[in-house]
Amino acid sequence: MSTVESQLLQQISVTEEKPQHSKRNVGLVLVGLTGGAAIGLSIIAAPFVAPALRKVCLPYVPATTQQVNNVLRALKGRTGTLVDLGSGDGRIVVAAAKAAKLSGVGVELNPWLVWYSRWLAWRKGVSSSTSFMTHDLWKLNLQQYKNVVIFGVEEMMPDLESKLLQELTADGCVVACRFPLPTWQPIAVFGEGIDTVWLYRRPNDYAVDKRKDHESFVDNR
Ligand SMILES: C[S@@+](CC[C@H](N)C(=O)[O-])C[C@H]1O[C@@H](n2cnc3c(N)ncnc32)[C@H](O)[C@@H]1O
Repeated sequence: MSTVESQLLQQISVTEEKPQHSKRNVGLVLVGLTGGAAIGLSIIAAPFVAPALRKVCLPYVPATTQQVNNVLRALKGRTGTLVDLGSGDGRIVVAAAKAAKLSGVGVELNPWLVWYSRWLAWRKGVSSSTSFMTHDLWKLNLQQYKNVVIFGVEEMMPDLESKLLQELTADGCVVACRFPLPTWQPIAVFGEGIDTVWLYRRPNDYAVDKRKDHESFVDNR
């Protein structure tokens, strides 16, 4: 083979290698982007999946408009602070602050929902009378709240009833959405079907000195 021929062959092999390199680079970038997107999505989705892995699965299901209206009917004339246990996107706390002028706290495990709730409160002009915390509802002492709202699941209601019995003050009330407390008698019921809301007062026959240590709930979860 002449020198010219071998130089030509070298040039051809160099020009043939280039597209292979760039193809490999595009492939690597695509793998990187896909992997990055998958990791990003997992980070966002994890707090939504986490409640399903707990002893009692309490998933994110936002209250319907009718349900929120029934909660507001139940809270009519109430004063003092409100807490929504598992506040989701903050719609109940925000609605109560706007319509019933109740200062409210939302307690929610999912930090994305907590940040969204803060934004919603700001957008609706009630950020000064509301607050949202990333916290486990079972580890929150309810003594300081006069109005406790819960949109829970059936399996958690017996434990929640015990917690309320120990922590709710005599003038406190409970508003339960969709699932009632198992043994307390409601003083009023609003709406029907999946939008039903029950209003309760703490039973009178339970003396404050019978309260057990709040810590028992902390250990159970
Ligand atoms: C059925 S949703 C109710 C949302 C909101 N209260 C509403 O009515 O639109 C229940 C919420 O409780 C939250 N959650 C589940 N377990 C929790 C826990 N241990 N502590 C605080 N929040 C919890 C879930 O992330 C979910 O957003």
